[in-house]
Amino acid sequence: MSDVVTVGSDGDVAVVRIDNPPVNALDRGVREALAPALARVAADDAVRAVVLVCAGRTFVAGADIGELERAAWSDGIGPDMHPLLAQVEDFPKPIVAAIHGTALGGGLELAMACHYRVAVESARLGLPEVTLGIIPGAEGTQRLPRLVGVEKALDMGLTGRPIAAPDALASGLIDHMVAGDDLLTAATAFAREQLARGAHHPRTRDRADKLGTPEQNAPLFAAARETARRTKPHIPAAALFVDAVEAAATLPFESGIRRERELSAESVRSEPCKALLHLFLAERAATKIPDVTRETPAMTVNRVAIVGAGTMGGGIAMACANAGISVLLRDATSAALEKGMESVRRNYAASVKRGRMTDAVMAERLARIQPQVGTDGFGDADLVIEAVFESMELKRTIFAELDRVTKPDCVLATNTSTLDIDAIAAVTSRPERVVGLHFFSPANVMRLLEIVRGAATSPEVVASALGLAKRLGKIGVVVRNLPGFVGNRMMFPYMYETQFLVEEGATPEQVDRVLTRWGMAMGMFAVDDMAGLDVAWRVRQELGHFSDPSQRRPLVADQLYAMGRYGQKTGSGWFRYSPDVGGGRTPIPDPEVLDLIARTATGAGIARRDISDDEIVERAIYALINEGARVLEDGGALRASDIDVVYANGYGFPGWRGGPMFYADRVGLRRIHDRIATFHRELGPRWEPAPLLARLAREGRTFRELDALGSDTAGV
Ligand code: COA
Repeated sequence: MSDVVTVGSDGDVAVVRIDNPPVNALDRGVREALAPALARVAADDAVRAVVLVCAGRTFVAGADIGELERAAWSDGIGPDMHPLLAQVEDFPKPIVAAIHGTALGGGLELAMACHYRVAVESARLGLPEVTLGIIPGAEGTQRLPRLVGVEKALDMGLTGRPIAAPDALASGLIDHMVAGDDLLTAATAFAREQLARGAHHPRTRDRADKLGTPEQNAPLFAAARETARRTKPHIPAAALFVDAVEAAATLPFESGIRRERELSAESVRSEPCKALLHLFLAERAATKIPDVTRETPAMTVNRVAIVGAGTMGGGIAMACANAGISVLLRDATSAALEKGMESVRRNYAASVKRGRMTDAVMAERLARIQPQVGTDGFGDADLVIEAVFESMELKRTIFAELDRVTKPDCVLATNTSTLDIDAIAAVTSRPERVVGLHFFSPANVMRLLEIVRGAATSPEVVASALGLAKRLGKIGVVVRNLPGFVGNRMMFPYMYETQFLVEEGATPEQVDRVLTRWGMAMGMFAVDDMAGLDVAWRVRQELGHFSDPSQRRPLVADQLYAMGRYGQKTGSGWFRYSPDVGGGRTPIPDPEVLDLIARTATGAGIARRDISDDEIVERAIYALINEGARVLEDGGALRASDIDVVYANGYGFPGWRGGPMFYADRVGLRRIHDRIATFHRELGPRWEPAPLLARLAREGRTFRELDALGSDTAGV
């Protein structure tokens, strides 16, 4: 027998242990080892009960994602888990699943086939498949409603959110919650109790007591279909999941699992499934940096100091406090500090009000943030994050001071979104310990963290930044110190193209409607208004955009800026805002702006015409893709998939489309290239196809293949 499954014993209870690091995925090796191990235990007369437990940090955390990917790119049919699950459920002796960590997907499905489930209090259990664009395909849609009822099963499967052990106990998903950490002893004792009761050991498939009647279920399924349509309109798996649970409630188990298998294959074959699996793997690939290995020493960050208590600084302080890290929050004046802390308090209070946090937790988190005017205590900080106004001069002054007041191994980070890290590092005596940590607003919510590596930034500091990202629950993507890094650099051509589109005859409202319907979380003009037209104006100056007079330059944004229309914060920008409409955040089309656009364009001799929705999508999204190819070419990002992670997590690109580079692959690089070449002829030099895109299109290759080959681009 292979080492991934071992059998031990505690008297008459056999302990079958899965040990398949890192997360005990139920891959072929485990399946092939588990079946004969169970068969031997079944035949062993000395064994009266079985505890199924996992080594390492978690119970089985799912099916093997690699196997899923292969199925998604072929016929959608994954490995058939039925023989193993039937062997477990029909086992002649009671089997107890002993759960710690996370029992997810295939892991929970295996546990539900066992006769009993016990879990430690910290365990979490769920069917997160919908987040990967699939439905549970190992009979989970049939067993979950039998254990927790139709309503709860629908909720768990449609949100994909795991539930905590106390909730699992209350809803019947587990039979016993273990006090303390000694799971194995408790599970063995539980198994003996069941033996002593001499009871019939329940098979989940035989349960029908929670399945409800057609009359009770009809409104539940109708509501669930509505939720699927509203919350995941582009992910077929959501509605397919509801169909599968309905099969559980209406068909005998054997027919139900056949139906689940068909529905599962349909979900696995869907395009959103490929995209979401790609992003899952891309997020994990992003943490792999060639010169940062497991052996690279990473600093554990226990004390953080933040300079600047504005929106960003306050958000970063909350992100740290939420992760249990103590924070010194500094600003230049007590008035600025008080304003920053007030906003932090308001934010937490809103979470309490929504029931996401208790008063006690809020108090604990607030206590971790110490506001102050000076640099007292900075000498003990492991990391300082500067989050002030985007001014090189100011940042350099601050870094020179930080270099003096912090301990020599303290990492100095800047939250700049555009400025040159090396120029900031140059004023310190430790450029190797200077790094960019580009958080996205609101910093306590957004998952993306661009980790900007300067010319001198050491592998240790990159490893520490990646460790911090993980601890904050964020996805760190390491990028090079090139103007605009990855995200903003790509956003500008995209943003300018939407501005050209309105000069040529589209309206901001049309562009935003088309882009959001296509899947972007927000339209480009609404984003500009939210971020501030003054901010975009300043960045244009900093990055020297349009310094070449032969370049076509958008004409309206500068005028809006000159008029003081900075966006949401001034009540007007590309759109109007009114406190009575959506709390001042809902864009209202403004005839004055339409008039300004028309006058400006006509004055500049731009021909106005009707612009089709298709043209808007192509010009906006292809601008993003073409610049993405340039980013890859000059080593701004290590992989195309890193760009996808940046866009899906920081810029509202729809995850179900997999990110801009994945989307480009799926449309076909030749088609994208040819369209860009046409734009180049018709619209001017800004549309020159990126050489890398041209080459891949010519060779009939994809960005995915480029990533797999890994050697065509400069390393980060
Ligand atoms: N199959 C294969 N490998 C998996 C896996 C799976 N189902 N789930 C995670 N891994 C791997 C990751 O790729 C990563 O590998 P790496 O160390 O080489 O990068 C490693 O396990 C750790 O995963 P990570 O996500 O970084 O760890 P975490 O502690 O933050 O989270 C989980 C652990 C289990 C919560 C998380 O990985 C997860 O949600 N996994 C998917 C679970 C799932 O959706 N299952 C349903 C599929 S049926």
